[in-house]
Amino acid sequence: KVTNERYRLKYHVSTPGGWMNDPNGFSFFKGYYHLFYQYYPYSAQKGPMHWGHYRSRDLVHWEELPIALAPDDEQNVCFSGSAIEKDGRLYLIYTGHQYHDLNDHTQFTETQNIAYSDDGIHFKKDAHNPIIAAAPADNTQHFRDPKVWRQGKYYYMILGSQAANGLGRALTYRSENLFDWEYLGPIANAQTSAQEGFMWECPDLFTLGDHDILLCSPQGIEPDGLRFLNEFQTGYFSGKMDYQQNKFTHGAFTELDHGHDFYAAQTMLAPDHRRILIGWMDMWNASFPEQADGWSGALTVPRELSYASGHLYMKPIAELMSLRTEKIMAEEGVVTSLEVTTPDPQHCELLFEANTSSWSGNEISFTLESKQQDLVSLTWNKKTGQVTVIRADKPDGDDKRYGNLQTSASLKLHIFIDTSSIEFFLNDGELVFSERYYTENQPQIFFSTDKGIKAKVEGYTLAQ
Ligand code: FRU
Repeated sequence: KVTNERYRLKYHVSTPGGWMNDPNGFSFFKGYYHLFYQYYPYSAQKGPMHWGHYRSRDLVHWEELPIALAPDDEQNVCFSGSAIEKDGRLYLIYTGHQYHDLNDHTQFTETQNIAYSDDGIHFKKDAHNPIIAAAPADNTQHFRDPKVWRQGKYYYMILGSQAANGLGRALTYRSENLFDWEYLGPIANAQTSAQEGFMWECPDLFTLGDHDILLCSPQGIEPDGLRFLNEFQTGYFSGKMDYQQNKFTHGAFTELDHGHDFYAAQTMLAPDHRRILIGWMDMWNASFPEQADGWSGALTVPRELSYASGHLYMKPIAELMSLRTEKIMAEEGVVTSLEVTTPDPQHCELLFEANTSSWSGNEISFTLESKQQDLVSLTWNKKTGQVTVIRADKPDGDDKRYGNLQTSASLKLHIFIDTSSIEFFLNDGELVFSERYYTENQPQIFFSTDKGIKAKVEGYTLAQ
């Protein structure tokens, strides 16, 4: 089905062919990490949703498994959800999406459903479905993307929804057995559609250190200067969840990844207690050039989350180091304009580190370019702390994404390039940008500054 390999990623999870969107059911079961995803196998355009399935021992090498969930028919499809183990079984909890009219996708109903497996490979939809048959009374038909976890003696579920007043919100339910669910109420609400969106997709609630984090992907946020640029956002509220009162006390919504291509992220708790996140590395309104080649969709590298000084950090997981096959460079010297020379510039990991405290220059840049044309660039401005990422194939006005670094005493860039994607992690995950780019030429890579700076630059070729 894939007719041309030119944009295929080598070490990211991507569709085997056909359409992919959200990661689903990210979990650990009987010695394997499991990762499902929204999948339409029969075309590179989105269609009646299935759950595709991969598993892995190390979160780096993935094995494709048979489709886990298929729609009953074109009108009854399987939307996003999560997975949880109970008594040696893996349960998938997903949204059943019913189109009332295939010619009018605004007419639909959403219910919550369950499927199970004893071997982690073959899944059966349960006879009790739906386990939640209708949205609460003060809600519209938008009621989806269940994430389930265990807390004390109960299982909890968080759902994305739209209140009857047209604003996004997250709802919680609880259960003792995964089948009978008691509605608890909303735990967070958009204040205005412009700021926090009209529908919250793919919510996730988890504890990180002393804080509880509500992750969600609101639709319909208005572009807001440096704060938000994508209409669809993935971000978080940090605060404290009181499970007794079903009350989440929290701060403002904050963007999580500042790139063009990051949405519908989901987390899992690894056996060693790391909180690991993976996101869809695309965006609903993207142009998807790979559709011409019979496929569409990739996921980010897995990222480890941590919370410090009021901020959520995302770092590439340590396991990714096992992809390093060859050292491209390890240099320490004054960088003014440095070309990274490597036989495989589209499959590499780069690290740049400089102490900037007594440096009198102002800008440090990275560029990925092809035939003297920039594909993607990143520039840090020391004075303002602002980081600007420019993706040249986007129309003017939508080509830039911004973020801010709190510290100016040092700059650390950690970069992963994979055929048609580039992920930037700055200062140990304080700021992250995920981008897709498309070229058929061998690109060139440069680090440059407006004034020479002593820096350490390291690079590796990556391969599976
Ligand atoms: C998010 C989303 C979910 C939904 C799924 C459908 O990208 O819109 O809300 O369950 O995708 O594929």
